[in-house]
Amino acid sequence: MNVAVIGTGYVGLTTAVSLALHGHQVVGIDVDREKVTRLQQKKSPIYEPGLEDALGQVIDQGRLRFDHTVNGAAEATVLFICVGTPEADDGSADLRFLHAAAEDVRNLYGQKPGKRAVVIKSTVPVGTGDRIAEQLKACTEVHLVSNPEFLREGSALSDSLHPSRIVVGADSPEAFEMMDQLYANVSGHWVKTTRANAELIKYASNAFLATRISFMNELARLSAVLGTDIDVISRGMGLDSRIGPEFLRAGLGYGGSCFPKDTAALLQVAKEKGVDLNILQQVREVNRTQPAWYVQLIRDKLQGLREKRIAILGLSFKPETDDIREARSLSVIGHFLQEGAFLSAFDPVAADAVARLYPQVRFETDVYETLRGADAAVLVTEWKACIQIDWSKAKALMARPMLFDGRNVWPADLVRQHGFVYTGVGRS
Ligand code: UDX
Repeated sequence: MNVAVIGTGYVGLTTAVSLALHGHQVVGIDVDREKVTRLQQKKSPIYEPGLEDALGQVIDQGRLRFDHTVNGAAEATVLFICVGTPEADDGSADLRFLHAAAEDVRNLYGQKPGKRAVVIKSTVPVGTGDRIAEQLKACTEVHLVSNPEFLREGSALSDSLHPSRIVVGADSPEAFEMMDQLYANVSGHWVKTTRANAELIKYASNAFLATRISFMNELARLSAVLGTDIDVISRGMGLDSRIGPEFLRAGLGYGGSCFPKDTAALLQVAKEKGVDLNILQQVREVNRTQPAWYVQLIRDKLQGLREKRIAILGLSFKPETDDIREARSLSVIGHFLQEGAFLSAFDPVAADAVARLYPQVRFETDVYETLRGADAAVLVTEWKACIQIDWSKAKALMARPMLFDGRNVWPADLVRQHGFVYTGVGRS
C-alpha cells in the first residue's frame, strides 16, 4: 500500500521504517528540513538500536523516502499522524501539532476521490479522534482511525515489527478493512473497537505500568527498613501468573517521554470530567520523590554529602537510548549538587545533553576515569558499560569503597567479596 507518515520522531520514524520493511511504499514527512535532509542521507536523528541500518536498507530498496511538505502524501491510501503531543503547563496534552497536521490533511485530500484512512498514532486524550474526524468531515472519503503505539525506546524497531497487540479504533467497516490490509503481514492480537476505547487503552496501559513501578518503589522503601530484599519479593510475586514478572523492578523510578507525560495527561482528563484518580496521583508522587529518598539514604551512609566526590554512572532515562527526558539522573544530580557534593559522571551516549544542563559536573568518557578518587559510585542507568566493571580495578581507583546501586543490577555478593560496601534499592 501507499503509506505516508507525518512526523519523524521516535514513533513516526520507527513506524515508517517498519512499514517499509513489511513491504509498503512509504513516505515520511517532517516540517524540519534539516531533519529530512539527514534522513535522506540515511542518518537517523535518534539513537535507536538497528534503526539506522534498517533505514538505509529500505531507502536503498526504494521503499522509503522523505519529504518536507504534506504534498508528498498525495498518493497515500493510509496516512499516519505521528506528531508530538507534549505536556502543557497544566499537565494536559498539547494538541497544537496534531490539529495543524489534520488541517494539512484536510487541505490536501479535500474532495479528492479515493478511499483513505487517516490514522492517529500520537498519544491523544480520549475524544481527540472524534474531534479530528469532525475537523476532516469535509473529506468524505477519509476514515479516521485511532491506532496507538506501544513501542519502547531502546527496542522501538523490534516492538514495532512484532507488536504485542494491534489496537484499532474506528467507526466504519472500510477503515477496519484498510487496517487489516496494512497489517496483513504483522502478527499480534487484534483489538478492534471504538476510537475512544483505543485512546484510553493507550493511557491506561502506561498508567498501569507506571503504577506497578511506583508500587514496587514504595515497597522498596519499606524493604530497606525491614532488611528484606525487594528483588526476591518481586521475583516471588511475579511467578503468580495473575501478576506476571514484568515492570516490578524497583529503582530510582521511571523516566522517559511516555510515563511521566501520559500519567499527567490522564489525570488532567479525569479532572476535567470531575473524576479523582487517587492511585495515579500517588504513583506520580512516589516517582517524584524516589530520587530524593535514595540520595538521603546515600547521605546517611556517607555521613553527609558536602564535598564528597560522587561518581554517577548512567544518565539516559534507560539504557540503549540517548533520551534524557525526565531521566532520573537529572533529579539525582540536582539533589547531590544542592547538598554540596562534587560530581563526576559517565554515559555512553547521553553525557553531552546532561552537560548542557549541569556544566558543574565533570563528565568522563570512561567508567574508570569517572570512578577515580570517588567516595562513592551511584548507578543510575543500567548500561552494559556501567554493569560490566572490573571490580578490583574500580576498588583501587576509588577513595572509598562505597557502591550505591540505583537499579539493583550490580552483583552484590561479588562486590562485597572485593571489599565494597553495597547498598541497593530496597535491599541492603
Ligand atoms: C513506555 C512503554 O513501555 C511503551 O509501551 C510506551 O509506548 C511508551 O512508554 P519507554 O518509556 O520507552 O516505553 O520505556 P520503558 O522500557 O517502558 O521504561 C520506562 C521507565 O520505567 C524507564 O525509566 C525504566 O527504567 C523504568 N522501569 C521499567 C522501572 O523502573 N522498573 C521496571 O520494572 C520497568
